[in-house]
Amino acid sequence: MKKILTGLKPTGEVTLGNYIGAINQIVKLQDEYETYLFVADLHALTVYQDPKELHERIKRFIALYIACGINPDKCLIYLQSENPYIPAISFLLECTTYYGEASRMIQFKEKSKENKNFSVGLLTYPILMAADILYCDANLVPVGIDQKQHVELARDVAMRFNNKYGETFVLPEALIADFGVKIKDLKNPTKKMSKSEGNKDGVISMFDTADEIKRKIMHATTDSENVVKFDEENKPGISNLMNIVVNLEGISIDDITNKFIGKGYKEFKEYVADIVIKHLTAIQDRYNELINSKEIDNILDKGIKISKQLAKDKYLDMCQKMGIVR
Ligand code: TYM
Repeated sequence: MKKILTGLKPTGEVTLGNYIGAINQIVKLQDEYETYLFVADLHALTVYQDPKELHERIKRFIALYIACGINPDKCLIYLQSENPYIPAISFLLECTTYYGEASRMIQFKEKSKENKNFSVGLLTYPILMAADILYCDANLVPVGIDQKQHVELARDVAMRFNNKYGETFVLPEALIADFGVKIKDLKNPTKKMSKSEGNKDGVISMFDTADEIKRKIMHATTDSENVVKFDEENKPGISNLMNIVVNLEGISIDDITNKFIGKGYKEFKEYVADIVIKHLTAIQDRYNELINSKEIDNILDKGIKISKQLAKDKYLDMCQKMGIVR
């Protein structure tokens, strides 16, 4: 069975857009692949994070992902920072990566421009990412297009290491999520729903109350036609709401269109709000059960144990091949 692995930085809140576009995608992939999902908390540190907020967010992240349907029986879940062999592997890989290669990464170029006093961690970020991917022989790495270059670097570094020291790593490939739909901002439905960029009323957070969800959906920007029809170009607002329903309920655009023949937007929006509330309430209930339970610790303990053993084996194999043994 092929192995997929991906990581997410605990920096910022999760939105309905992240849920439909990314988390749900991994929920589907976990049935077909051996799946590894980790919280990239070391990567989060490459840009300053308030320690208290970061600490709280890490646990919230794990609880939310499980509440969203990531199944710990199918998917190995762990915290990157609890595996000390990963930064150790990363250092060995740093010695196999050229400075020119690392400094040509687009993310590094952009982020190092944003702040004059950027950290060295920002430069070595993709090499730590290579260690995340290579230690467990992941075949496929589902990421957004912005991370494709980093996965390619991991592949180049793995190939170079294999050539220099002998066959050690599986060569990984990026699986660029064709996340079909991109859920749009409710107030500005031509833009992606994003916590950092969007208008507050255009973004549904996974932690919004039923009243907040209802208010945001009832005030979502639409057009004046009052006909429920899918047309992303001319009716981006209504099409976005239809996309939300299609993805949450698993029904077709045609089903929705037929259901609302002769009915107006008010009725349609009430229907959308009820569906979003139903799904988010179920996730929030599960989240509340999890967040203060022992279950999360048990899941993370199990995940890190397996992850650590694999990373230790890979690290010792690398050391042996590189000549750093007693
Ligand atoms: P993070 O948390 O910044 O992003 C998590 C995932 O979301 C994708 N993404 C996007 N996709 C499409 N459009 C966007 N606007 C957008 N913004 C973010 C990212 O591509 C990513 O897939 N470096 C990783 C974390 C990581 C990792 C790894 C991933 C660390 N080690 C090893 C895979 C394998 C990141 O960007 O996280």
